[in-house]
Amino acid sequence: MSRLFVALLPPPEVLEEVAESLGPVRPRWPGLRWIDPALWHVTLAFLGEVPDRVLPGLSTRLTRAAARHAAVTLAFAGAGAFPSAGRGRVFWLGLEAEPPLTRLAQSLAAGAERAGAGEADRKRFHPHLTLARSRDGDDLRPLVGSLDAFSGRRWTADAVHLVRSHLGPRVRYEPVEAYPLGSPD
Ligand code: 2AM
Repeated sequence: MSRLFVALLPPPEVLEEVAESLGPVRPRWPGLRWIDPALWHVTLAFLGEVPDRVLPGLSTRLTRAAARHAAVTLAFAGAGAFPSAGRGRVFWLGLEAEPPLTRLAQSLAAGAERAGAGEADRKRFHPHLTLARSRDGDDLRPLVGSLDAFSGRRWTADAVHLVRSHLGPRVRYEPVEAYPLGSPD
């Protein structure tokens, strides 16, 4: 079994810019569990525990799904918290994407489901970059306010990545495979 998800992995210079903006803010929120920048990613489809026998078919389905979508121009912009800024458990940066990522995420989830990996998540897809977590939910409105004006450099995602998650005292993410997005037509 592997715990898998499909994600965008932003380039280092984009993540560095985010890290710089977080620098002065982070020390003011020591009670949050801040995610190590080496683990930052944008989840498109969370697959959960996937049996090994499914992996070859999953690879074929995800390759096909990714190829049907054009590369995406993106920028991190704005901030927020799930389930709400007032009782935030997940603090995140938002994403602007052209074309929007929703259909790509749906295709990947549907392809994975057809391969027998996970069930397509019926929750509304909200692309984000998780930066910190709070176990009990905190009033994160001032934190959201301090990053809400963030507007990062543009970058192009030309592939999506299948990532294996190793849980434990120190979470580790292992990129398994990359699937190129098609060229715009
Ligand atoms: P997140 O971006 O909000 O943290 C790996 O766990 C990735 O899959 C994380 O990015 C996480 O979301 C996302 N994910 C989506 N649904 C999940 C779930 N039910 N359990 C764990 N992670 C999930």
